[in-house]
Amino acid sequence: MQGKTLFVSGGTRGIGKAIVYAFAEKGADVAFTYASSADTANEIITDVESKFGVKCRAYKLNILEPLTYKDVYKEFDADFDRLDYFISNAIISGRAVVGGFGPFMRLKPRGLDNIWTATVDAFVVGAQEAAKRMELTGGGSIISMSSTGNLVFTPNYAGHGTNKAAVETMVKYAAAELGVKGIRVNAVSGGPIDTDALKAFPNYEEVKEEVAKRSPLSRMGEVTDLTGACLFLCQQEASWLTGQTIVVDGGTTFTS
Ligand SMILES: NC(=O)c1ccc[n+]([C@@H]2O[C@H](COP(=O)([O-])OP(=O)(O)OC[C@H]3O[C@@H](n4cnc5c(N)ncnc54)[C@H](OP(=O)(O)O)[C@@H]3O)[C@@H](O)[C@H]2O)c1
Repeated sequence: MQGKTLFVSGGTRGIGKAIVYAFAEKGADVAFTYASSADTANEIITDVESKFGVKCRAYKLNILEPLTYKDVYKEFDADFDRLDYFISNAIISGRAVVGGFGPFMRLKPRGLDNIWTATVDAFVVGAQEAAKRMELTGGGSIISMSSTGNLVFTPNYAGHGTNKAAVETMVKYAAAELGVKGIRVNAVSGGPIDTDALKAFPNYEEVKEEVAKRSPLSRMGEVTDLTGACLFLCQQEASWLTGQTIVVDGGTTFTS
């Protein structure tokens, strides 16, 4: 991936951070976003540049205001002269998901709307801006992170699960229209992965134990478990793969 550039949203923690390191290890220059963890972002930049000898930069982004992606991309343009891979990964949690994360009878339009904005709208604007840059160099690969919470009942996950189903459909529409520009668009759908987002579940320990029990591989997912599918989707070997969702779930969807 030398000479190529990745832009991933939410690179300070969890799956996004693992993606930053996986692509940098393959020689790609990496741009990522953060919401509040500016210090962590700077530490990651220093570490990635010294470990892998690639260029790494980070930009502040709030996915609850998706149109601000346009300004972030202007900052990106000042640092990088090409974009090959875009991964829409960032996700909201905490207060922003109140009314969207919980049992069905407690769902409220405001929380649900926030999850739609952060999941679907942010993917759309981030991918549109990515596509404008990718077509200048003949194409690229766009990925939305998704989760099996739209395939398997997951307590409190109605808001996220529904929006992951929506973003997977948006991925197919984007793929259908961007193929002509040499741009492939896919989703990577993870089963439960041990991250801060999952630790926010009130029944985190129970979920962890249950997932390990359900998985034929007898363990919960680690953040690095989704990076292989992302790398694959960005390589020549995946050159006829578009409009798909790759499920990486340790076998848990079938055994649920
Ligand atoms: N965890 C799972 O079980 C699991 C399973 C399958 C798929 N996924 C998907 O994988 C992706 C990453 O999940 P994760 O578990 O790695 O998440 P995470 O650990 O909670 O990390 C979230 C990332 O998003 C950023 N972020 C938070 N609020 C934001 C905002 N308002 N605007 C912009 N960025 C914001 C955070 O930046 P700061 O550090 O600056 O706050 C952080 O980099 C998500 O799309 C998620 O749905 C997760």
